[in-house]
Amino acid sequence: MCGIVGYIGRQPAKKILIDGLRELEYRGYDSAGIAILQDSGFSTFKALGKLINLEKKSTSFETKGFSVGIGHTRWATHGKPTELNAHPHMGENSYVVHNGIIENYQELKNELQSDGVTFISQTDTEVIVHLFEHYLKNALEAFDAFKMMLSRIEGAFAILLVTTTKKNQIFFAKSGSPMILGINSEDEKFFGSSDAALIGKCENVIYLEDGDYGYLDEKDILLYNKDDKRQHLTFTSLPTSKLSAQKEGFRFFMEKEIYEQHDVISDTLIGRLSDEKIIFDELDDNFLDGINDITFSSCGTSYHSALTASYLFERYAKIKTSVEFASEFRYRSPLLNSSTLFVVISQSGETADTLETLKMAKDAGLKTLVICNVDNSSMVRLADYTILARAGIEKGVASTKAFATQVVVLWMLSLYIASKRKSLDTKEIAKEIKILREVPSKTIVNDELHERIHRLSKRYLHGHGFFFIGRDVFFPLALEGALKLKEISYLHAEGYPSGEMKHGPIALADPELFTIALLPKNMLYDKSKSNVEELSARDATICAISPVNFDKADDFIQISNTQHYMLEFFEMMVVVQLLSMEISIRLGNDVDMPRNLAKSVTVE
Ligand code: G6P
Repeated sequence: MCGIVGYIGRQPAKKILIDGLRELEYRGYDSAGIAILQDSGFSTFKALGKLINLEKKSTSFETKGFSVGIGHTRWATHGKPTELNAHPHMGENSYVVHNGIIENYQELKNELQSDGVTFISQTDTEVIVHLFEHYLKNALEAFDAFKMMLSRIEGAFAILLVTTTKKNQIFFAKSGSPMILGINSEDEKFFGSSDAALIGKCENVIYLEDGDYGYLDEKDILLYNKDDKRQHLTFTSLPTSKLSAQKEGFRFFMEKEIYEQHDVISDTLIGRLSDEKIIFDELDDNFLDGINDITFSSCGTSYHSALTASYLFERYAKIKTSVEFASEFRYRSPLLNSSTLFVVISQSGETADTLETLKMAKDAGLKTLVICNVDNSSMVRLADYTILARAGIEKGVASTKAFATQVVVLWMLSLYIASKRKSLDTKEIAKEIKILREVPSKTIVNDELHERIHRLSKRYLHGHGFFFIGRDVFFPLALEGALKLKEISYLHAEGYPSGEMKHGPIALADPELFTIALLPKNMLYDKSKSNVEELSARDATICAISPVNFDKADDFIQISNTQHYMLEFFEMMVVVQLLSMEISIRLGNDVDMPRNLAKSVTVE
């Protein structure tokens, strides 16, 4: 998740920009850069890795007097983390930083390239600066050129742009990605993609709205809204706590991460879908050569993604899969065969058990792939192939958005393999791709749903145990729901296949046994319903999550009526995450840092 800062004033700009970026480190990044414009022209510095590298590169540079500057921390989505791909991106006389995704960048890039413009990065962002300069060359005023550029780009963005044609101005725009503008009594002006970057530097801020754009200099701020109407400036005062600012208005990082799932899933999808093809630039033509089956190895939540994948891979790609707990696999003398593709799944890329199984597979000569959220992690460095989940940094110990993005990647991969193995035809793949595009909207948390879950949660604070039950991919989701609840509420919870309840656990059924029943309309509805009825008949307390009303339930959480079970999967995922969180909050637990757990377990 990229971070943006901007500054206009007379203090040393480098320090202000880098300090601001440091406050945005919590968003995660793999490279950083700044561009500062003084009378003498631009000074630009970019570095891979941590901000200390950027500081080292710019040690001998200082501004004297007035300057304008922009800075950026980049979490790679389009193109690898390299210095060339790091922001600010350069035109002939201008620099831009951008957070978000320019969806029509390829079309714009083609247009500019045919006009003779050379691109040096693989990013979508670079089109912004070239497009701006293209209009500037057509003798437009800088602000008019900026407006023309804005009228051409589609997608989500927060943009800052500086140009030598207007050495004392910063141009800005916001649509979909956050951007805050701040001022202080010394006539200094600041930008930041979160409060955290501005606290301590200015007191009064404007939280820009989608569609807002404009420019500012030392004296004035010109702000226009989406209807091109000049806005009266209404400032609010800035919060004072940095930690709460990092949570961006949410009570916990986990809550923030649940809410941002629709955004990060869009990042996961971007550039990987055409109308009838899944595109993984990370994989080459030999990827599946000699492969007959797949073994997944992982731990915790990532294990549940793997289990979900096994249903999808066998259904779509018609390839045999096995799913292993890494901690078991590494000590059970497994038989390793070179026709097996060995896939490790890990949010952190550092989990000791998973890493060890990857080494075992490599030593045995297997082809290996890691699905990971952290570039340059140990697993990414070791595996033959990597697909990044693009969830952005996850701070809550209980994983939410990392799980969501892993499942999206795995679903895409099952379709990618299905197309290579011709187990699905183009039409069938195109149909799934259409559904994939709907996933972000299905994970948007609406207030009504959250409020309902909040109210329900007070009835689930005791009891002698929870069973989350489901069939097919809803079984791994049940496991994940139970794990979330265990992790942060400390209540006993199990995930179970609905059809297995009658083979033992039903003996526990009484009003103090809470069953969270996952009842999708599009996957084995009648079968699952019968299983829940068996429990209801024995007086278990049932909370059903379904698009279809269910009168045998004590509580009912309705999800929307869709035509595909994976859309139901993602909506239910949000429900079980919120339910665990609300129960945990009511119990007074530390949601983000539950007892006895660690985010990354690098010991056996
Ligand atoms: C720890 C975390 C879990 C996580 C598991 C695997 O136990 O608390 O949330 O699912 O490790 O982590 P990984 O980074 O490999 O996905």
